Amino acid sequence: MLIAPFSEEQLNRVYTPILSPLAWDLGHIANFEELWLVQNVGGREPLRGELGRFYDAIENPRSTRGELPILKGEECISYLAQVRERTLDVLEGVDFDSAEDPLLRDGFIYEMLLAHEYQHNETMLQLIQMVESYEPVERDPAPAAEPTPAGPEMVAVPAGTVEIGAAPRGFAYDNERPRHERELAPFEIDRTPVTNAAYIEFLADADVEPPMYWERDGEGGWVRTCMGRAEPVDPALPVIHVSWDEADAFARWAGKRLPTELEWEAASAGADPERANLDQLGFGCAPAGAYADACTECGAVQMLGDAWEWTSSDFLGYPGFEPFPYPEYSQVFFGDEHKVLRGGAWATRRGVIRPTFRNWDLPQRKQIFAGFRCARDG
Ligand SMILES: [Fe+2]
Repeated sequence: MLIAPFSEEQLNRVYTPILSPLAWDLGHIANFEELWLVQNVGGREPLRGELGRFYDAIENPRSTRGELPILKGEECISYLAQVRERTLDVLEGVDFDSAEDPLLRDGFIYEMLLAHEYQHNETMLQLIQMVESYEPVERDPAPAAEPTPAGPEMVAVPAGTVEIGAAPRGFAYDNERPRHERELAPFEIDRTPVTNAAYIEFLADADVEPPMYWERDGEGGWVRTCMGRAEPVDPALPVIHVSWDEADAFARWAGKRLPTELEWEAASAGADPERANLDQLGFGCAPAGAYADACTECGAVQMLGDAWEWTSSDFLGYPGFEPFPYPEYSQVFFGDEHKVLRGGAWATRRGVIRPTFRNWDLPQRKQIFAGFRCARDG
């Protein structure tokens, strides 16, 4: 549905060196599925053996993907369909219930492939923001129409021992495990994500770049141009497409700080992915304060959905981390280079997000659907 409005030329075009052409993402989704399920689990030969290496995300950095001899247009779409057919065929013969293999237990590999495809859906949407005259096949205005009741600026989370990370059973990525206890000092966290209105005040006061896609309107205001359409910046919406460096600067300007990812996860207890602006249907954020009927235990809203939230934390393994099923998913990114984001955005598929999910990116990146909320010691 997402790619239905595209011409073949648009699918193959390189829009920016920091994102792949859409045809690469599509072929990579199919190739990853073929590798893990058809080849590894099913023991079959790949359909296009010679092509696999061009779809390896580590071997082929995004800036080089436009030059690769990958499948284009119809050929790519039919490769997707052929792989899916073979996948379903292999799946019919797999007994997940009695599986000893950790790849199969609890349907891990099936869930991993679904999550992988969902995550690439979001990456493709990052690029779609840059495509002039893209018209979504379907758009659900419901989240934007939500009433937003007033509430306190910040909510309190008491000190205590909290459990962080995903439980041992059920699907989660390796970096969410093992679940472990942490001591947290008391803190306060913004009830809602930081709004465009607050960010405009910051821009007037500080020497920083505006969010991606923003421009001056010539009369002292701001317009935002996505998918070729220019609209005045809506002050009620959460700010989005800001870098970690900018979010951190805003927090200090506001006399606060970014929350650690542990604080974020503790504050998200009770968040409900069913009452959140996710799944790409709204094609934008809901106003800050929406979904107030589904606030977390501490009273925060919109911790899931709308905008990914930058945290102050570096992306590191939890104590006792073990890579599974391959070190290139998380482990190779651990260190002080990447910052953790939490909570998912309007562009995130509902089936992939949970409070323990850890996303990461470089602190200067803005093309991701990232906003933030601030915290302070309690
Ligand atoms: Fe991938």
